[in-house]
Amino acid sequence: MTVAGVAFDTVVRGGTVVTAADTFAADIGIRDGRIVALGKDLADGDSEVDARGLLVMPGGIDSHVHIAQPSGEGIVMADDFESATRSALLGGNTTLMPFCLQEKGVGLREALNGYHALAEGNCYTDVSFHLIVSDPTPTVLGQEMPALAEEGYTSIKVFMTYEGLRLRDDEILATLDAARRAKQVVLVHCENEDAIRYLIGRREADGDIEPYHHATSRPVAAEREATHRALSLAEIVDTPVVIVHVSNREAMEEIGRARLRGQKIAGETCPQYLVLTAEDLKAGDFEGAKYVCSPPPRDKASQEACWQGLETGVFDLYSSDHCPFRFDDPAGKKSEKGQASFRWIPNGIPGVGTRLPILYSEGVAKGCIDVNRFVALTATNHAKLYGLYPRKGTIAIGSDADLALWDPASVRTIRNEDLAHGADYTPYEGMGITGWPITVLLRGELAVENGRLVTGKGKGTYLGRGRSALFG
Ligand code: URP
Ligand code: ZN
Ligand code: ZN
Repeated sequence: MTVAGVAFDTVVRGGTVVTAADTFAADIGIRDGRIVALGKDLADGDSEVDARGLLVMPGGIDSHVHIAQPSGEGIVMADDFESATRSALLGGNTTLMPFCLQEKGVGLREALNGYHALAEGNCYTDVSFHLIVSDPTPTVLGQEMPALAEEGYTSIKVFMTYEGLRLRDDEILATLDAARRAKQVVLVHCENEDAIRYLIGRREADGDIEPYHHATSRPVAAEREATHRALSLAEIVDTPVVIVHVSNREAMEEIGRARLRGQKIAGETCPQYLVLTAEDLKAGDFEGAKYVCSPPPRDKASQEACWQGLETGVFDLYSSDHCPFRFDDPAGKKSEKGQASFRWIPNGIPGVGTRLPILYSEGVAKGCIDVNRFVALTATNHAKLYGLYPRKGTIAIGSDADLALWDPASVRTIRNEDLAHGADYTPYEGMGITGWPITVLLRGELAVENGRLVTGKGKGTYLGRGRSALFG
């Protein structure tokens, strides 16, 4: 049981290993939660996992997830850390990066204390927080951000939309400038709040209050303009940014142009922009509310553009933007105010458990992207851009043994009841899927076996992070 004096706790045997760079047949030897050997015919481990016929990939890293986030008066998110990480694990993920929301008047550290208390002892996957800065006071920018960066909180998010969260341009500039000094990468939600407010008012004045008008009041131009502005502000203070949840070609073109100017940036898209459209928001009986998220899903041409962006490298990241609310619930999509106008329908949809199977099935199985690109988009690039590489996001000697064993021949139908999350629906109900992550190991320990959870909550740990690769 030794290779170079190393005993194996576990050997994952006979699989096809897939990384962002290569595909090769190898056994994986694991000790103390880490990969210690890759090779043919490794000696026995204390336990063995049969991977014959399976693709062995790094566990998914979902770097855009909202869990237990305050979402307005009377509204409650459908997932806590237990249910979100459980659903994520069953969907092939081993690391989640949820947001810690700073509310106005509250310090970042105080906000973090609250989220850590909610997460501690409850997670099925490893977790690491991004900080949402909504109140960039001198103390936040000058003291908290640099101190927290030193402690491994190396990313922040700013919003250009949502009343109460959005920052003005001068605040965005000051926050970007502080982030560059602290070496924190900045995620930006790009939509023009003033234009959207105006359009929401117009729709309501015309009596257009149905969920579909969430989409018509958040047009492509509002996203494109804000994307251009965010990239320009980032250029002015030379700060690396990630443009998150990009929904359409025009915003993608802004990313392309900024790259040509030499800016250090990354782009992210999500399943909702690949397989949903604004037409889904027209579903009757208020069911359109199930698809209300921001930016909204667009049209077929935008879907095609986003697929191209995944293929060609406009996008580095594919994340869920999991932000779940129950549908049939006054604390969720069906709040009294939400039914009176789309303006009040909580924004966000569940997706942490379906992110990976959707991309595998629609992307890899249908021949749009190869399996190495799949790994890059779902794990490796997240680890690199958010300072977790090479501990996470790859299969290499010394990396954590976070592994998802995929059966490429498995054919399933997405059903909400199988997703183990807190929402009472999935936007992808009934979708046929080819390929599923049937077995998952978290730091070497079997967590999902043949589709069944075989671990308990609390196995996930908190991850401090290094600098983003965008800082060079
Ligand atoms: O609608 C969405 N995306 N809700 C989550 C919050 C955000 O904007 O990322
Ligand atoms: Zn956002
Ligand atoms: Zn989000």
